[in-house]
Amino acid sequence: MKDVFKIGVIGCGDISTRNYVPNIMDRFSNMEIYALCDLNRERAESLAAAHGIAHVLSLDEIFEDPEIDVILNLTNPQVHYELNMRALRSGKHVYSEKPLGLNLKEASDTIALAKEKNLYVGCAPDVFLGAGVQTCRKVIEDGLIGDILSAKVANMYHGPENIHPAPDFFYKIGAGPMLDIGPYGISEMLYFMGPAEELCCYGGIGINPRPIKDHYTDVEVNTHYNGIVKFADGRCASVNFSWDTWGAENGPCVQVYGTKGSLFLSDPDNYGEGSRVHVLLEEDMRDDNGKISREKTSHSGEYKKDIPLVFDCPTENRGLGLCEMIEAIKEGRPSRANGEFACHVTEVLDGFNIAIATGKPYKMQTTFQQISRMPEDFVSKMR
Ligand SMILES: NC(=O)c1ccc[n+]([C@@H]2O[C@H](COP(=O)([O-])OP(=O)(O)OC[C@H]3O[C@@H](n4cnc5c(N)ncnc54)[C@H](O)[C@@H]3O)[C@@H](O)[C@H]2O)c1
Repeated sequence: MKDVFKIGVIGCGDISTRNYVPNIMDRFSNMEIYALCDLNRERAESLAAAHGIAHVLSLDEIFEDPEIDVILNLTNPQVHYELNMRALRSGKHVYSEKPLGLNLKEASDTIALAKEKNLYVGCAPDVFLGAGVQTCRKVIEDGLIGDILSAKVANMYHGPENIHPAPDFFYKIGAGPMLDIGPYGISEMLYFMGPAEELCCYGGIGINPRPIKDHYTDVEVNTHYNGIVKFADGRCASVNFSWDTWGAENGPCVQVYGTKGSLFLSDPDNYGEGSRVHVLLEEDMRDDNGKISREKTSHSGEYKKDIPLVFDCPTENRGLGLCEMIEAIKEGRPSRANGEFACHVTEVLDGFNIAIATGKPYKMQTTFQQISRMPEDFVSKMR
């Protein structure tokens, strides 16, 4: 099997230009960008020129080019399904930005076709392969916080309209806080706790039409969610996502509560440097006589301990999941940010919308195989 895989990138917008293309060119030695493609050809040409990428192709050409091993789909969510299916039909592996589909059917069709064709599907987010989340997973596996009882995922603020050059799509079908920011915290929670069994959720649209920069846009998706995930063994987790709050006292975005302590991850979208992992342990709540101290428990925040990250990783390392998928293809094993996991994540995201629409709990239909920890030298070896 070849050492360096050739990547055809579809979508040369914000995330492609800011993160994926520079990261792949600089950090991941097992792949090279062979061609770029975008509906807006000038965008692809200027990105190709900036990085010395030899080929700018049309959609038909990129799917038909026999040189390309993997299609990296960095387009908008509405077309992920169509383009991922087309890539698989052309005999190419696929790595897609999130979500894998807009609903369970799109995501499960994609992984079914990949299985039929014996091809790999990978999907963002891959931040759970980074040092912050991997450190959390090690804390859990080492038993530092005891048996896991519950968790909380929260990300509430006043929308992304001020951080993106063309933000209207955030309020259209395929986005909203659940499909756009939900995949990070939800993937991490599932990575820590295992497959979900049932979901409840209440929420809706807080502000419509939405003022964005110099205009208003119609909001097509829920912008506020108060949800609960129940796991097969009865444990549960709360999920709060909103773009309708002027900030919120969220605390760390992902929190896991165990019998012997609690675990806090500061930012669900940070791969390494700058990611803060803390624990609060029962043993630190005891006084000199070994009794739980009222004074300490009422100021418990002061007793949080910083956990050093298990490996060095840049803060922003998009492409890590694709890099790991290529190694998995070479080794003939399942990849970590894999399609089955992304399909389960997609079902959870869409299940919350179904629960809001029906006012009833949503029963999950999919599951996933447990995903192991990353080797601690993976990121440095791939440079
Ligand atoms: N921008 C971010 O901060 C960010 C962060 C993480 C993930 N993402 C994800 O990355 C994906 C892209 O987001 P973005 O912010 O870069 O969007 P964007 O609108 O800036 O870029 C998308 C690009 O895809 C192109 N495109 C759309 N349909 C196409 C088609 N059929 N064929 C060829 N090209 C097509 C568009 O012309 C555009 O250049 C989304 O799934 C988003 O959820 C974005």
